Amino acid sequence: MRGIFFIVSFLVLQSLVVSSSKAGPDFNFFYWVTYWPGAICDSQKGCCPPTKCNTESDFMIHGLWPQFINGTWPAFCDQSNLFDISKVSDLVSKMEKKWTEWGVYTCPSNETKLWEHEWDKHGTCVQSVFDQHSYFQTSLKFRQRFNLLDILRQKGIKPNGEFYGLDEIKNAIKCVIGFAPGIECNEDVEGKKQLFQIYICLDNHAKEFVECPYVPDKSCASKIKFPKLPKRDSLGESLSVMSSV
Ligand SMILES: *[C@@H]1O[C@H](CO)[C@@H](O)[C@H](O)[C@H]1NC(C)=O
Ligand SMILES: *[C@@H]1O[C@H](CO)[C@@H](O)[C@H](O)[C@H]1NC(C)=O
Repeated sequence: MRGIFFIVSFLVLQSLVVSSSKAGPDFNFFYWVTYWPGAICDSQKGCCPPTKCNTESDFMIHGLWPQFINGTWPAFCDQSNLFDISKVSDLVSKMEKKWTEWGVYTCPSNETKLWEHEWDKHGTCVQSVFDQHSYFQTSLKFRQRFNLLDILRQKGIKPNGEFYGLDEIKNAIKCVIGFAPGIECNEDVEGKKQLFQIYICLDNHAKEFVECPYVPDKSCASKIKFPKLPKRDSLGESLSVMSSV
């Protein structure tokens, strides 16, 4: 009897929580994800010089992704409010520097396509918190506040093609934001694991860093390469090599 009472009251409580949280976020936290362009170039999986030459030689934003605590995520939540570049026109010049795709998805790279994908897939699911403008602006703000390359350099971790301890990399970031990030690796042409994407966890209003409730932490080795970022000229060369294959 007592057990049933608890189950019933739990269900009642749960439905109260669900109905009263309608106005707030219906996901648990955010990943703010950046990637290291050098890890795309040396995997030769599609590296193109960015179409716009003002791209920074630095970590690039991939996206701001709502997540559930169980490791799944909502996606493509609203077909009626798809990406509209006119809503972010004042942010475009910043986004061209810090949020480009370097041929990750398309070749030649098309930044608009990445932004469209990010909003349509992830952004449409966070409209209880952000509109299109504040969604992109928030991600850019974190990028400005938070210079990953500097944070790593201060601990002697540099994009020089050398290998570094995965924990060393995580701790360098933890020292600054208070929480360890998730690291995703890919492989260079020789199959060596290397630093590809960094997942930093934010609360469900994207205001504070939080301990990651869940990280996709399976793709790295205990020592990983921090690949060099090719200069634009050699990028052009490797492109012509690739297109002749
Ligand atoms: C994960 O949590 C979400 C939100 O509560 C839920 O909709 C989804 O079904 C869950 N998925 C799994 C595999 O448990
Ligand atoms: C880039 O992507 C956008 C959105 O998908 C599309 O409208 C545009 O035509 C593309 N531009 C090029 C040069 O392919």
